[in-house]
Order: sequence, then structure tokens, then C-alpha cells
Amino acid sequence: MKKVGVLTGGGDCPGLNAVIRAVVKSASVKYNYQVIGIEDGFDGLVLPNKTRDLTPWSIRGILPVGGTILGTTNRSNPFEYKFTKDGKSEIRNISREVLNNIQSMGLDALIVIGGDGTLKIAHELFKLGCPVVGVPKTIDNDILATDVTFGFHTAVQTATDALDRLHTTAESHHRVMVVEVMGRYVGWIALETGIGGGADVILIPEIPFDIEKVGQKITDRRKGGSRSSIVVVSEGAKPRGGDVSVLYTAEAGGGAERLGGIGNKVGAKISCYGMEVRVTVLGHLQRGGSPCAFDRILSTQFGVSAVDLVARKRFGEMVCLRGKGIESVSLSEVAQGQKTVPTEEGLVKVAESIGISFGR
Ligand code: F6P
Repeated sequence: MKKVGVLTGGGDCPGLNAVIRAVVKSASVKYNYQVIGIEDGFDGLVLPNKTRDLTPWSIRGILPVGGTILGTTNRSNPFEYKFTKDGKSEIRNISREVLNNIQSMGLDALIVIGGDGTLKIAHELFKLGCPVVGVPKTIDNDILATDVTFGFHTAVQTATDALDRLHTTAESHHRVMVVEVMGRYVGWIALETGIGGGADVILIPEIPFDIEKVGQKITDRRKGGSRSSIVVVSEGAKPRGGDVSVLYTAEAGGGAERLGGIGNKVGAKISCYGMEVRVTVLGHLQRGGSPCAFDRILSTQFGVSAVDLVARKRFGEMVCLRGKGIESVSLSEVAQGQKTVPTEEGLVKVAESIGISFGR
């Protein structure tokens, strides 16, 4: 019987458990493989006692549950692993130890469910000989070579529901509501939330904004009789000629740069145009909770296809969605960069056609 390991790495997102469930079920039903759950990302391949058998029985009921039953971390990169002893920290490349552990656990394959950072690590491990298959996850939808990642639609729905609520209070008080959403360096969540939730202004990293254009839009709306406005700001948005707002810088050994604060900066500038402004930062609400039906289905498709790739020994590949079909792509292609919002076509143009301003 083949043994397949599965881990979740990086930030969590709705749909991770649905992938784990599909991996375990299809491994059992279709191939009679054994599945080993590896806890807390790559930590489970480094530290002792962090693996467990996953069986169709042990994963019952997890389809609608947010988060990941395996736990996750974005601080366990085996190529830059951080050890702390007596208050001193040291960064070491322990990728060879990880490969040895994979061998001694008797794993024939490793399914890595993660975002761009985790998939890059998976690709590096593959280059060292590890039989890896990738599954793309993230609410940010920034992974190349897949039309969409699971988690994204749920996050957009959560943020859209928030906008619906903010509209009514904005209207009552004649205020401008600024809503900061996640998305890291790409504006997919802001763009789709802004359109789905009826925003007047959407600010995304791909289109550095001119605050005067934003102020003008709100002033024009007020002159036209609209006494409230909704402004959606992606956490990675930046003013023309300016920089992203950073809460914490990246650390060696894990811990990526953390963005945040641009919502308050934009809110403060807008208040100079004589409107009362309130700022809401949605934060991790967008990552939590039960996956929507679309994400449950996509996660299930991805989980099943990942096991199919293992069976066909198509290591070094990642499952992806193209059109309506599930395909696969090499992890080296995925590692080339990020999937950004096209600024001169598609949804940006749709939004501009209905009068939404991007501050340009
Ligand atoms: O990548 C997903 C994401 O939620 C980003 O949108 C956000 O910038 C980041 O993770 C937050 O990370 P953390 O959970 O480490 O604060």
C-alpha cells in the first residue's frame, strides 16, 4: 500500500479541510493508499510526533469547517529554518534532514497545499528529489497558472456582506466608509468585493492612486445628491509615487512582510474634503469561517486531482483550474511570479464603465 503525506502551509483559508477530505477519500476509495497528515506545515517534517493517520473515518464532518485540521504556519521554511536556543536565534538550511525524514516515514509522495511561498518551498524540495504535488490555496487569488484559488470566493463573499452592512449605516449618517481588505500585493479581493458590494471607489496595488481623483469622485457624488460613499482599499494599495503601508517588515526564517494601515491613511485624506469618514479594517474575518459552495467544490476537485497526479507519478506539478477544467502545471511555472489584476481589460474596465473610480 502506498503512503501519501499531506500538509497545509502558510496562512489558512476556507476550503483547506475540504481538500484534505478529498485527498483522504479519493486515496482510499480510488487507490487504496494510506494518507498521513503532517501537522503545522513543514514543521511536521522537522519536529517529532507531528504526524497522524488520516482515514475516511477520522476526517468525517470537516467539509464545511474553516481553517485546517492539520494546523499551519508561515514560519517553517526548511531552507531558512529558525532555531532559538538560550534566547539566541540561528537560521539553518535543514532541507536535507526534511528529505531524510520523508524517506524514513516511508512516504511515497507529499501533497503540499499552500500559497505562493509554500509552493516555492515545495518546488525547491522537488528539485532535491522529493516526490511533491502542489495544491494552490489563498484568499488573495495571486497564484499564477490557475484561474482561481479556493478560499478567494468565500473571502469576497464575506467582504461583500460587510459592504452591504456598511452601506446602510453610511447612508443614515451621510458618511464616507473606507473599507480595507486583504490581498497582499494584488487587488483581486478589493476589485471583486467593490463590484459585488457596490463601491464608489476601489483602490488596488496595480493602479497607484491619486488621492485628488478620489476626493473629486466623492465631491462629485455629493454634488449629485449622494451623501454617502463607499471606498474599498486593498491593503497593498499605494499612492502614485508612494509606497505600500507596512505594519511589520519581513523576518529571516519566516514571517513575511505584513501590510496594513492604508485604509486609515486614505480615510484621513478623504476627511479633508469635508466629509465625515469612518474606516473599517476587515482583517482576518476574510480568512475565517465556512467555505462557500464554490470553494468546497473546487477544493474537492483539487484534492481528487492531486491524488491522481500522485498515482501518475506527475511530481513537481500543481493542480489548477483552467476554464471549467482541472489541469496541472509545473511548479517551476508557478514560481515565476504573482497573478496580478489586468488594469486595461476585464473587471477593471467593467467597474469603470459603471462609474467606479480607481483614483486614476
Ligand atoms: O495571504 C493571505 C493573507 O490573509 C493576506 O491577505 C494577508 O496580507 C496576510 O495573509 C496576513 O497574514 P497573517 O495571518 O500572517 O497576519
